[in-house]
Amino acid sequence: MTHILLTGGAGYIGSHTALALLRAGYPVISFDNYSNSSTSALERVTQLAAGNITTLSGDIRDEAALREVFRQHKISAVVHFAGLKAVGESTEMPLHYYDNNVAGTVTLCRVMREFNVKKLVFSSSATVYGDAKTVPIAESAPRSATNPYGQSKLMIELILEDLVKAEPDWGITLLRYFNPVGADSSGQIGEDPNGIPNNLMPFIAQVAVGQRPKLSVFGDDYPTHDGTGVRDYIHVSDLAAGHLKALQYLETHQGIEAINLGTGTGYSVLDMVKTFSAINQVAVPYQIAPRRPGDIASCYAKPDKALSLLGWQAEKTLDDMVRDSWRWQSQNPNGYSS
Ligand code: NAD
Ligand code: UFG
Repeated sequence: MTHILLTGGAGYIGSHTALALLRAGYPVISFDNYSNSSTSALERVTQLAAGNITTLSGDIRDEAALREVFRQHKISAVVHFAGLKAVGESTEMPLHYYDNNVAGTVTLCRVMREFNVKKLVFSSSATVYGDAKTVPIAESAPRSATNPYGQSKLMIELILEDLVKAEPDWGITLLRYFNPVGADSSGQIGEDPNGIPNNLMPFIAQVAVGQRPKLSVFGDDYPTHDGTGVRDYIHVSDLAAGHLKALQYLETHQGIEAINLGTGTGYSVLDMVKTFSAINQVAVPYQIAPRRPGDIASCYAKPDKALSLLGWQAEKTLDDMVRDSWRWQSQNPNGYSS
């Protein structure tokens, strides 16, 4: 039996993708060092979906441990989520980010080649577009990065492009996620950030549940419809479905493709706050605060390539996103340690 290996499979997007793969009948192995996740996530996944899942603890920089995984299991493709993702932390600990994200990916690819596994779905990010000149953003837009986290994603994209140039029998998709939010509709798995959330949706949810007094809205003087920042929020279950489509695409394609996973619609911070309050009938107090350094005004995807190449498009609405985020947060006020 062949398996799909998920590096970082216990994380927010990895656990939702594991669930989607199990539901579609794929045997799954997760390999995660739990540096930013809990073993509970995949325990809950196994309760939600009957299926074949093996959960392993290990670090992608540990070449010997990775070799053991490939030696012991037949693996047909890898979905590579493992990485550190906090922008602020990356500016304080650049070497740690480059080591974990870039060196970790190189090690993973080396072991994959050794075992002749050459199908890879990589978690890239809309961060590689930097401060895009125009929206919606197509995959052909210029790339740049303003912090070590973003640089690490851009460097990995370049490394994987060079790999495919040298060895054209690899099949790689660079999935550029926009802003993942929401949770499985069961409310059993979701996003469980460590400490104070950096991202908007978990912050809103923690304010709504009473853990934080109010949201700071970072800037109301951007050139957007209400002055607050606009982003392309995408339901994590739609994102998970996109990985399934990418894996199916790689069954018959070689080469490398960068593909946006977004809805194509931008919502502002205040759109998010108001929709969350209205749909969930819960107050979200907020104050206007100064702009957050490094933030851009508006960022949303041109999602056409995902539809034409993968046959994928986002299906869930903003109402679904805020409803499912709230179900997870209100049922698990302290995340997996609730
Ligand atoms: P997450 O932190 O919840 O999941 C990442 C998982 O990788 C965690 O379980 C962590 O323990 C694991 N991990 C980290 N370093 C590892 C290592 N060296 N070896 C083994 N496991 C390791 O993050 P997420 O939101 O699920 O993101 C998954 C991927 O998607 C990341 O690469 C991230 O950069 C990328 N991404 C996320 C977003 C977002 O907003 N969530 C947006 C764009 C791209
Ligand atoms: N925001 C607030 N208050 C908060 C948090 C966020 O007003 O407490 C605003 C931000 O200013 C921005 C919007 O909400 O306008 C979204 O912010 P997020 O931090 O949720 O998301 P970003 O688009 O800034 O960043 C995300 C990921 C990055 C990734 C980037 C591009 O967190 O890792 O998308 O893909 F690089």
